[in-house]
Amino acid sequence: MAKMKGLVLSGGKGTRLRPITHTSAKQLVPVANKPILFYVMENLADAGIREVGVVVGDTAQEIEAACGDGSAWGLNLTYIRQDAPLGLAHAVKIAEDFIAGDPFVMYLGDNLLPSGITPLVQEFAERKPEAMILLTAVPDPQRFGVAVLTDDGRVQTLEEKPEHPRSDLALVGVYLFTAQIFEAVNAIKPSARGELEITDAIQWLIDQGREVLPHLVKGWWKDTGKLEDMLDANRIVLEGAEAANLGDVDEESNLIGTVVIEEGAVVKRSLIRGPAIIGKGTLVEDAYIGPYTSIYFGCHIRGSEIEHSIVLENSSILDIEGKVADSLIGKDVVVTRTSVRPHAYKLSLGDHSRVEVI
Ligand code: G1P
Repeated sequence: MAKMKGLVLSGGKGTRLRPITHTSAKQLVPVANKPILFYVMENLADAGIREVGVVVGDTAQEIEAACGDGSAWGLNLTYIRQDAPLGLAHAVKIAEDFIAGDPFVMYLGDNLLPSGITPLVQEFAERKPEAMILLTAVPDPQRFGVAVLTDDGRVQTLEEKPEHPRSDLALVGVYLFTAQIFEAVNAIKPSARGELEITDAIQWLIDQGREVLPHLVKGWWKDTGKLEDMLDANRIVLEGAEAANLGDVDEESNLIGTVVIEEGAVVKRSLIRGPAIIGKGTLVEDAYIGPYTSIYFGCHIRGSEIEHSIVLENSSILDIEGKVADSLIGKDVVVTRTSVRPHAYKLSLGDHSRVEVI
């Protein structure tokens, strides 16, 4: 079999993650202080893939600035511009020249599959189907593409976000294809939401009698499309982290459990109860950082308590009396206590922000 290529989908508007996605790509939100997209690149590199196409949309510049030429992972990246988010099958369509007849792994850039894809790539190479899909049982299948299998374990039907799902098997955002998928994406019509659905393209292959193998995912998987999923992913990745202290923690501070202090981070008179990670150059003083919290680089946490949250770069949380929890805080954000009258909540929030007060 020809060498497999990779196709990473990194466009889309990320509407379910607003307001963060008004200004940033959802694929670059850090989970345990590493952008989700970087886990995807690592998985591809680990599976022996070298040539990777990255489909980008409005956030092209940001994605390219973060991933560069891919040499950080030993990959060779080619950026493919998608002018409008017209669906996953549309992204495949515009990648036809890049794929040039080779088999490929398509990986949605907001999916986290920490067990990696190496065994799948091997199984695909050995069994030589036309397509392989990854499935996993979920409690809320109506949010995903849903597969129904036959009694002998073949794929019978696929439906995109059905109102009344006929199984609990969700399509994971990793797919293995041969070049036959191009026939399929050229044959299908846009769905009710106006997109060319990859689910319909795979159904087309099934209807044509082509072999589509299902592979049930062991271990966890996350589509990080929503805040709750992002916090969940952060929790699970942090649970697997190893403690390290590359920063400067004073004697009056206490690190309990798995705590990662990155280079140049400073911790003074604080309690950090892991699993948690404190980013490069971040200053934590007179604070409590609780479990499942990732504070990215250049932040300042002072006189406050925060847990089960993600804070992006260069943000400050200063002298907040109540505890901050279950939160995703963007870049360059300041959350502080007011010292001038009126003693009121003074908010300067972007569109689609959500604030819950006690
Ligand atoms: C896409 C696919 C869906 C799949 C999901 C996995 O949905 O259309 O079939 O289950 O990714 O992440 P989206 O998240 O783009 O709405």
